[in-house]
Amino acid sequence: MANCVLSFNKDVSLIEEATDQVVVQSPFGRNNSSYHNLTVEQVSPGFLAVMSILAAKGATEEDLSNLVLQTDGVSQLPNFYYYLQKFTNLGLICHTVLDDGLPLAIRIPLSPADNLELLEAAIDQKFMLSRFAYCHQDRGQLILESPLSQAKIILTNWKGAALIAELAKPQSASEISSQLSGISAESIQLFFSLLLSANMLDKTPEGDKSQEVESDTLAQWEFHDLLFHARSRRGRHNNSVGKTFRFLGQIEQPPIVKPKMSDDIIELYRPDIERLKAEDCPFTRVLEERKSVRHYHDEPITDRQLGEFLYRSARVKRIFTTNSGELTNRPYPNGGSRYELELYVVVNTCDRIPSGLYHYDPQDHQLCRLKAQSHHIAPLLEEAYLATGKASRPQILIILAARFPRVAWVYESIAYSLILKGVGCLQQTMYLVATAMNLAPCAIGCGNADLFATAVGTDYYAESSVGEFILGSQPSP
Ligand SMILES: Cc1cc2nc3c(=O)[nH]c(=O)nc-3n(C[C@H](O)[C@H](O)[C@H](O)COP(=O)(O)O)c2cc1C
Repeated sequence: MANCVLSFNKDVSLIEEATDQVVVQSPFGRNNSSYHNLTVEQVSPGFLAVMSILAAKGATEEDLSNLVLQTDGVSQLPNFYYYLQKFTNLGLICHTVLDDGLPLAIRIPLSPADNLELLEAAIDQKFMLSRFAYCHQDRGQLILESPLSQAKIILTNWKGAALIAELAKPQSASEISSQLSGISAESIQLFFSLLLSANMLDKTPEGDKSQEVESDTLAQWEFHDLLFHARSRRGRHNNSVGKTFRFLGQIEQPPIVKPKMSDDIIELYRPDIERLKAEDCPFTRVLEERKSVRHYHDEPITDRQLGEFLYRSARVKRIFTTNSGELTNRPYPNGGSRYELELYVVVNTCDRIPSGLYHYDPQDHQLCRLKAQSHHIAPLLEEAYLATGKASRPQILIILAARFPRVAWVYESIAYSLILKGVGCLQQTMYLVATAMNLAPCAIGCGNADLFATAVGTDYYAESSVGEFILGSQPSP
């Protein structure tokens, strides 16, 4: 026999304020602005019993309404349905589909929403798993999630996983039950209801054409982009967001400035910042004249220009100490002053600097030459050249690599999105400095992080490329 049991989310707390007044505390306090506790007034004995059952092992809606009917009489039923609806919309109610008395799947809301009611899936209607739904293991449980959903589903045994596999193509509950032994059609239908009301099923009308594909807006979202968007913003999840320092005391944070990567060093030119403050191009002229330039003068950029460019864009200006360790100031803004971005300079042609791959030391303002093989460097330059539509071979390619743990050590949920925002801040600063210096700048949209990690010899997961910028001498007008 199949049925669906309702229970409170395990993080809901009930506080009895008076004999007929109970405060239901929502678990969504920290991250949801729509959070509020619900005070239930004039609680009847039957409804008090209902709340106790919801807070314990739960019961079907029919059993709960029967309890109110028998204890309080028919007059209390509207009250019961009113609060059940409220609890559901506040994301406090979990739905467990039982198959033969055992849990098959549990739907747990991740935030309050007004679309958490259980929808009915007709036994002969065809469904397919949404292309945004995915399974992963979390703390020993198999979880089904989707960036389209305000809830997650725990698949409690092999049956749920088998049904998900069947849903790779459009099928109805009755069709699957005829192929899969051990699960009743009724259980499959309830399982479908659970998935349907978690936005994890794609209804496939006549001709098996997916609704998701039919929506122009959704069709333009790729799975990974939508998941990243949903999980790096507040809203449809209940994960911790922001500065949580979750590895404090467990893992050492990487140093504020990356130690020198070689002792083959080139001292770079340092411009006179005080003189530039007085004499440099006016800000609005720089802003208005900034543009991407993909062609260069025959005379390449010089060592002095490269030195000035790096000094004005990316040097360490100051190191200071805070509760969470040492931090730095640099010319470009950066989330939490973590300054995780490392600059790797691929010199193709530059006056008085030999071609090769260098790491920029922003504290000592030096280039440290790396022992990279030319067959690793050439493809990096080639990819940047292709990204400009083969405009010109870049004179200088600056690869921005992130030391990921610098950010993830402090920030939860938003670490990678902060890093990408940081790339934008640095790229704009580079654009403006290059314009003020009459150099040719251009950001590059995508590079190869594996190629970078191989060329530089970094651990892909500890530090790999997240942005690129090309630079050269300004062509004659
Ligand atoms: C994040 C980002 C990625 C970019 N990627 C490329 C690229 O791969 N190739 C390219 O030629 N230009 C690239 N550009 C430059 C843009 O095409 C350019 O900024 C845009 O066309 C506006 O022109 P403007 O910079 O001259 O104002 C990129 C710019 C940004 C900000």
